[in-house]
Amino acid sequence: MNALLTRIRKLAEVARSLAELETAVAEAIAAELPDYNWTGFYWLDPQDARTLALGAFVGEPTPHVRIPVTQGICGAAVDSGETVVVDDVNADPRYLSCSIKTKSEIVVPITALGKVIGEIDIDSHIPAAFSANDRNFLEDVARIVGMFIEKQAGEYARS
Ligand code: SME
Repeated sequence: MNALLTRIRKLAEVARSLAELETAVAEAIAAELPDYNWTGFYWLDPQDARTLALGAFVGEPTPHVRIPVTQGICGAAVDSGETVVVDDVNADPRYLSCSIKTKSEIVVPITALGKVIGEIDIDSHIPAAFSANDRNFLEDVARIVGMFIEKQAGEYARS
């Protein structure tokens, strides 16, 4: 995962927009980590900060293109600002199903300028697929994306 993290840092150096970066990051992660069966981003809607909107993703289309922060594992992570790891999604009443094949899920909040603004969501077809290593890796990815957004906000303010 270290090589992948280095690659993601490089992607953040060259990306010209958040849309470009999130697409490249989702594709890089999905291509390298075969147990990550759905890899995507959700962002708090700037027009409605209590709702998450689906961003770039790799995997089966999901019916959950908008998720209130009061719902789902996705809502729980963004509302608490903490990573949520669910070893058995079918035993978690918060879970919103995207695929019947999904067995476990991890959702990692993305913070920029001191605020949670979105998250990385990964589903696996394997139960309890996400270890401390996965969590550390994805929290590093979330920091890289958050810093990219802060850098872009700074560039916007100066332009
Ligand atoms: N499982 C998520 C919904 C998003 S889909 O998995 C892509 C949840 O419970 O919030």
